[in-house]
Amino acid sequence: MSQEHLPGHKMIDELITGLLQEQPSISPKFFYDEIGSHLFEAITFLEEYYPTRTEKKIMLQYGQAIALAIGTCDVLLDLGAGNCEKGCALFETLLPKEYRALDISKEFLEQAISGLQKEFPQIQMQAQTCDLQEEMAFPDLVGRKKIFFYPGSSIGNFDPDTALELFKNIVKVCEGSGGLLIGVDLVKDHEVLSRAYNDALGITAAFNKNILLHLNRLVKTNFDLEHWEHYAIFNDQLARIEMYLRSTRNQVVSWAGGEKHFDSGALIHTENSYKYTQEKFESLLTGAGFKSVHCWTDPNSYFLVAYAAA
Ligand code: AVJ
Repeated sequence: MSQEHLPGHKMIDELITGLLQEQPSISPKFFYDEIGSHLFEAITFLEEYYPTRTEKKIMLQYGQAIALAIGTCDVLLDLGAGNCEKGCALFETLLPKEYRALDISKEFLEQAISGLQKEFPQIQMQAQTCDLQEEMAFPDLVGRKKIFFYPGSSIGNFDPDTALELFKNIVKVCEGSGGLLIGVDLVKDHEVLSRAYNDALGITAAFNKNILLHLNRLVKTNFDLEHWEHYAIFNDQLARIEMYLRSTRNQVVSWAGGEKHFDSGALIHTENSYKYTQEKFESLLTGAGFKSVHCWTDPNSYFLVAYAAA
């Protein structure tokens, strides 16, 4: 959300470069402006969108078993903490001495934390900016047992190769203790997957199209939402939902210093959401160097919660 106030040259260049590619794309991180964050929250309440509520059920049902697998926790590191709601739900079972909330924007985190701090005065809390595409290091936490928490299947936005690098980074930072508690969406019936990204109310469509409004503000492009439509499809080969914005006519989009022609039917790629089998996800974790993996799932095997010990 800090992006909102000061779109740096680097960010604008990244966005323009993405648009000018032969296969145009916009990074999914640009979904989450203020409206986008609220639209995503609305998505999590949709009947068709099962991941959020399924993960929550698994966490509630297996809370004790999860806490037992994790053991003690010096520091809980919440990756993509947002409003810190999921992280703070773990306080009572994990009893962390310290809570470190990490996200792209720090101001948002600080607000969430100041409220939490009053409720849990015994837990030391700190907000830290963090871009998961870059190498993480926590020099101030050396020697302490660190539990990373990465819920919501946010890992699905990364290619498996990039996810592997992130996991290796976490293993390294853990220094032979602690580990990673992570939620990931599983491969399932294609109809169920497709409906989760093509809801009847059109909230996902609004969430997807809103990225163009965000771009209009950041890059001063003149995308006209009238002429773009939501398109989401499951790619069976790559086991991922792919989201695009599709041009409904020939059109030119311009900005200061450039323009791009889009044919009718042309696509802008906005998101990949990878789905895993339990076996594939476990081998990704062990391949990164985690010593053991515990898994919990729901009766339909729609979603997986895993704890990988470093
Ligand atoms: C927040 C990345 C887990 O991939 O399901 C929801 C984002 N996109 N509907 C997902 C999203 C469209 C979501 N993640």
